[in-house]
Amino acid sequence: MQTLVVVGTQWGDEGKGKITDFLALQSDLVVRYQGGNNAGHTIVLDGVKYALHSIPSGILNEQIVNVLANGMVINPKALIEELDKLKGRTFNLAISDKAHVIMPYHLELDAIKESLLSEKIGTTKKGIGPAYTDKAERIGLRMGELLDPLLFEKRLKEIIESKNKQYHLYGLNPLDTKEIYEAYMSYMNRLKPYITNTSLLINDAIKAGKKVLFEGAQGTLLCLDHGTYPFVTSSSPTAASVPLNTGVAPWLIEGAIGVTKAYTTRVGEGPMPTEIDNEIANYIREKGHEYGTTTGRPRRIGWLDLVLIKHAKLSGGLSGLAVTLLDVLSGLNELKVCIAYELDGKIIDHIPSTVSDFKRVKPIYKTLEGFNEDITTVKRFEDLPNNAKAYIKFIEAETELSIDMFSVGPDRNQTIIINKIF
Ligand code: GDP
Ligand code: IMO
Ligand code: MG
Repeated sequence: MQTLVVVGTQWGDEGKGKITDFLALQSDLVVRYQGGNNAGHTIVLDGVKYALHSIPSGILNEQIVNVLANGMVINPKALIEELDKLKGRTFNLAISDKAHVIMPYHLELDAIKESLLSEKIGTTKKGIGPAYTDKAERIGLRMGELLDPLLFEKRLKEIIESKNKQYHLYGLNPLDTKEIYEAYMSYMNRLKPYITNTSLLINDAIKAGKKVLFEGAQGTLLCLDHGTYPFVTSSSPTAASVPLNTGVAPWLIEGAIGVTKAYTTRVGEGPMPTEIDNEIANYIREKGHEYGTTTGRPRRIGWLDLVLIKHAKLSGGLSGLAVTLLDVLSGLNELKVCIAYELDGKIIDHIPSTVSDFKRVKPIYKTLEGFNEDITTVKRFEDLPNNAKAYIKFIEAETELSIDMFSVGPDRNQTIIINKIF
């Protein structure tokens, strides 16, 4: 394949950053296409840990161009702080002139709107929802507009006037246009060299035969359209959204590798049928360091839910799977895998359309034997213990997707290819 999407198949944090960094070794471009710094993508290289939020996970490769595409929402201040952490490293970055800008009022409105909800979403409070709302309402600001100080000042004035009316209703102190203008002008001084038409850049690269990897943030169940609405994020992480979010024709996208934890986690609120809250959950949480990369919140833990993966395959498109954190399951006597749900006495193999029905489903499990061996140094599928092999084969058979890769530790070199797809 010349173009491949890395997509989360669960509720985020599947190890997309790690898989992207690994596949980036074969890529010319790595493109983040949606979300913003609500994402937290971890890469471990030579024992050093990098937590990326808006920067694509190809950044540790000097020769690659890392693109922040038009579908993203970007907090310039946070992006600069992230870039500062990469001091001393050489990298290439391109930021879409059409990507929307996260403004200070987006952060405040995210927090206040969440505080007013009786049933919380548990957002990351990074201003993501309000920034995408403004985009849809056509009162957002795009990175390219901030390159023109006069245009930016004029639009900002109008927007702040309207935001201050909203602020008044919420009992917040009014925003100061001048202060925001000056702060954002100084951010733009730093980011200006990177801003460009990234659709042209990506299309030119594809035309020239270069390899392009698209890196999703979040996961399919957090998709605004195909996720567990309203407990979702405000963009679409699926492969189906890549053309729109990058300015590339749909038929140029050749495949999508779905990244799947060997179990399930969720951070934030909303239903999670296979959730467990017992000693096994604590074992997995501690062994897998299951605490949010962006917010530090403990992640909710559950057994692997194949209904989710089948949903991700159907609704967003997957050509294969990468199973991560397999090593974390070692030491458990038995491994449960959810293969269907029961709802009102009926067996279903899809996600119900309302969240209230989804809350009521009961998982139907197949129980497999566990394994005890430390698998963190395994280099080939053949070297896995039989029960770990059987676990992988079971996922493959149930989802009818080939498992092209798996991962046995956080480091780049703890990644094993079964089928070379890229
Ligand atoms: P992302 O948001 O999908 O990029 O995933 P995160 O980086 O938020 O969370 C995945 C976590 O699992 C990170 O701490 C990774 O370093 C870690 N990780 C990834 N793959 C593996 C693996 O195979 N085994 C173990 N033990 N940790 C892994
Ligand atoms: P990565 O890319 C896990 C969750 C939040 C909340 C919901 C909405 O690291 O997989 P938002 O701030 O986006 O409005 O929050 O989505 N969420 C994530 N959960 N991983 C992520 O990103 C997430 N990004 C958002 O916890 O439930
Ligand atoms: Mg994450």
